[in-house]
Amino acid sequence: MKKINHIQHAQWFRDSSPYINAHQGKTFVLHLPGKAIEHENFRNIIKDILLLHSLGIKLILVHGAAIQIDRALEQANIQNHQQGHIRITSIEVLGIAESVMGRIRFEIEAALSRGVVNAPAGIKDVFVCSGNFLKAKPIGILDGIDFLHTGHIRKVNTEAIQQQLDARAIVLISPLGFSPSGEVFNINSAEVATEVASAFPADKLVFFCKEHGIQDPKGQLINELQLDDILDSQIEDHGPLSFARQACIKNVDRCHLIGYGEDGALLEELFTRDGSGTQVTRNSYEQIRKAEATDVGGIIELIRPLEDEGILKRRPRELIEAEIERFFVISRDGMIVSCAALYPMGQDGELACLATHPDYRNGNRAERLLNAINAEAESLAYNKLIVLTTQSAHWFTERGFEEVSISTLLESQQFLYNFQRNSKLFTRVVKKSAQKE
Ligand SMILES: CC(C)(COP(=O)(O)OP(=O)(O)OC[C@H]1O[C@@H](n2cnc3c(N)ncnc32)[C@H](O)[C@@H]1OP(=O)(O)O)[C@@H](O)C(=O)NCCC(=O)NCCS
Repeated sequence: MKKINHIQHAQWFRDSSPYINAHQGKTFVLHLPGKAIEHENFRNIIKDILLLHSLGIKLILVHGAAIQIDRALEQANIQNHQQGHIRITSIEVLGIAESVMGRIRFEIEAALSRGVVNAPAGIKDVFVCSGNFLKAKPIGILDGIDFLHTGHIRKVNTEAIQQQLDARAIVLISPLGFSPSGEVFNINSAEVATEVASAFPADKLVFFCKEHGIQDPKGQLINELQLDDILDSQIEDHGPLSFARQACIKNVDRCHLIGYGEDGALLEELFTRDGSGTQVTRNSYEQIRKAEATDVGGIIELIRPLEDEGILKRRPRELIEAEIERFFVISRDGMIVSCAALYPMGQDGELACLATHPDYRNGNRAERLLNAINAEAESLAYNKLIVLTTQSAHWFTERGFEEVSISTLLESQQFLYNFQRNSKLFTRVVKKSAQKE
């Protein structure tokens, strides 16, 4: 049993390594509502936050305090007034909110400092930075109701936050903003998280929710939701999905809705293929594009296992770096899941290094790359596409390629053929745009 656990552990670690690389150096905003902070699982959330920090992810934590403020108001015998989901913040309520938020901030700072004891090796100290990062304005009077010291965000000081993140601090933001005249405004914490994430824009915005994401009408968890596919019926006023939607509209590419009561939900969401909750994406989750220098690591990670098995020809890192502009990739959440390259071969082009990560096969990714390579070959006025393959002959013949003998290659092209691998050779005339199905 112990053995199996070790194997599972090793496999989990291997599977998560592409995500570790993809997330490094990225900026994530995490929204922790008051209920999450009180939950017994909060200790584990703190440990996982520290783990993300140790992996080089830049973190901005935005905390809420709604239930703690409700309780403090009750204890102080102060009436709480709400208009819908919005609290009306009188000067008395503001005083309570300030002291409750101050206490929560210290609690989180203490938990992060305490958590260092059990944190991954390498973390000796964690610096948490809070400050007057938010400029606010009053909501004012709506439908005859004065919201007093309840406000909206006017501006996020991204520069000051960025300086702290670059200095490896975790930035902790309370949902209070300040007007230029020094007045304090109480702001909905999910709104703060949304505005802060949009102001950068952050690479991810994570909402810790009561539920583990959004469910379909049959009660099944929806793993991914694209912005355009969100139904009005799924949106609850001031619910996390409504904020995730706003954030996506304001340029945050990915928002995640995960359960705060579930141990490990954050890690599962960020480091596994299916995640633990619902990911809301701004645009198509996957992008097909020309490779850039920063993709070299991801391409190597994808093709090395295939090179080790002898399926693909070995390409040293320096070669890929030098030839990166010949590659096309499909990236998914920063991870390269599919790639292909086009090399000149006289008047023809060699389609090479076509690969899809095993977890993402059979989703037409290679087909899409073939189309992109064909379009590139057309623009370069190549006559034919040439492919050398040891294992995927049928894949190419099913797409109009025909096997030819090595002798049909021009002498200059034969020079490029690697006899040792004994690959089969296939060609297809470059399809013109008008010919494409
Ligand atoms: C070949 C490869 C790139 C296909 O990637 P993919 O993204 O899964 O491809 P697509 O989704 O576009 O196509 C999948 C279809 O091809 C079929 N297919 C996959 N590999 C195949 C193979 N070796 N021979 C025949 N058919 C194959 C699948 O069964 C599937 O068929 P279906 O749609 O009828 O179910 C992928 O299997 C791979 O990385 N293989 C190892 C590297 C390699 O051999 N590269 C080619 C040499 S350059």
